[in-house]
Amino acid sequence: MQVMEALASRRSVRAYTDEPVERATVERLVRAATLVPSGMNTQPWAFGVIEGAERLRLLSDRVKTDLLSKLSAVPALERYREALCDPAYNVFYGAPVLVVVYARPMPYDGRGACAMAALGLMLAARDAGLGTCWIGFSESLLESQALKAELGVPAGYRVVAPVIVGHPVAFPAPTPRAEPEYLYWK
Ligand SMILES: Cc1cc2nc3c(=O)[nH]c(=O)nc-3n(C[C@H](O)[C@H](O)[C@H](O)COP(=O)(O)O)c2cc1C
Repeated sequence: MQVMEALASRRSVRAYTDEPVERATVERLVRAATLVPSGMNTQPWAFGVIEGAERLRLLSDRVKTDLLSKLSAVPALERYREALCDPAYNVFYGAPVLVVVYARPMPYDGRGACAMAALGLMLAARDAGLGTCWIGFSESLLESQALKAELGVPAGYRVVAPVIVGHPVAFPAPTPRAEPEYLYWK
């Protein structure tokens, strides 16, 4: 698949089959993530992987509890109250794998490069016929000291991009994008 085709046909996938994703495939996608540029070639990323749709479903319940506890403090979350209260709503959509891109602790802010790494992973997954979706909902729980301790995340690592990966039930059709806004072209 050509790069433009992968870019144009990548969509956030929110329905997955039961088929697992092999470890070697996940490793290949993570390798692809590391091909993106980074400031001074610092390669500021680190990765965490959580496998298993059932394990992720249990984590989804914790994500929802965490977000519901923050609803009053974060007004932007209010519109998701109904979904977060729905026991059938799984923030990971039944995907079999979650790859979390972390920024390593360093003087240089590597979060931009880590976000690019996440896109590299998503495009490589699209090329492999796999679906992905960045799950911002899970950032707050993944960033909590309690879950970081549970997962063994060393001090100073920051969550940038939790991305689910799996075999899509279908790829949604491309959606139109707004025309680019040019602030200047001198
Ligand atoms: C930073 C970020 C956070 C996101 N968080 C979520 C999320 O928590 N749940 C979800 O279903 N989609 C999430 N998405 C996916 C967006 O909703 C999606 O990218 C957007 O609607 C455009 O659709 P497309 O990816 O299919 O082109 C997130 C995307 C980004 C970049």
